[in-house]
Amino acid sequence: MLRNFFASIVWRNSGRKAFQSIYKEALRSKTYLKYIEKVHGRDSFCYNMLSKNQYEEFIAQIKSLENTKDKVALDIGCGPGLMAQALQEKYFKRVIGLDFCEKIFIDQSDKLVLVESNIEMMRLEKESFDFIYCIDSFYHLRNPKKALNKILNSLKKDGLFVLFYSFTGESKMAPMLKSWGVEGKVDIVDFTDDDLSFWKSSKQALNKFEQDFYNEACQRVFKAKKLECDKFLKYHENGDIHRKMLVLKRL
Ligand SMILES: C[S@@+](CC[C@H](N)C(=O)[O-])C[C@H]1O[C@@H](n2cnc3c(N)ncnc32)[C@H](O)[C@@H]1O
Repeated sequence: MLRNFFASIVWRNSGRKAFQSIYKEALRSKTYLKYIEKVHGRDSFCYNMLSKNQYEEFIAQIKSLENTKDKVALDIGCGPGLMAQALQEKYFKRVIGLDFCEKIFIDQSDKLVLVESNIEMMRLEKESFDFIYCIDSFYHLRNPKKALNKILNSLKKDGLFVLFYSFTGESKMAPMLKSWGVEGKVDIVDFTDDDLSFWKSSKQALNKFEQDFYNEACQRVFKAKKLECDKFLKYHENGDIHRKMLVLKRL
């Protein structure tokens, strides 16, 4: 337990620093926005692995809630908060975002609240959210089960939790949910083939935009994305990667 605690402190410092410096560059890069449009099929900032298809499926989950404008959502690992802001404006009464990179947070309002928080240590009030989402932030956790417990406890009855995650080998997520014994309905959608197309198009776009990234002195974003892209394409080549959307409806 003590080991987990210290490992979490180390990740908080090293992971936070790494994300913060990438975000600083990505947020000022016009080329990164062009890359997002080409690869993610969207015109607003994100730093994730959601293809256009996956994003549409995610929005369909939001739309499956009734009267979203009365609902409160929680974004776990929200980055600067731009996606939370866009979703709040379109769908929700209020969105709360949690991330440990508070230095890059955008301006807040009473409808958009961004909180510096380590997912490992976060405190969430019981049954307080209608919709919780976590897009590509549920990694590096020493004790994902504990985080999951807190998340699920903070979901209201009939609330939805949507998680996008990639993993190699066996996923522990579904068995974890079963062993938690939550009264809920779990759906898992496989996006592995879609993920391969996503990384292929990412590679093409990176080749196309490489010089533009360098021209605006944003090569760090380019290199980070290139590394990610090569890593995931290699996993796909070896047939050793899964991309899933997990949806839990609390009953
Ligand atoms: C790949 S980015 C995804 C960002 C955002 N969800 C999106 O879709 O654009 C992962 C995010 O998780 C945050 N993160 C990773 N580990 C975290 C932790 N233990 N506690 C809080 N935030 C964390 C990072 O700071 C980063 O903003």
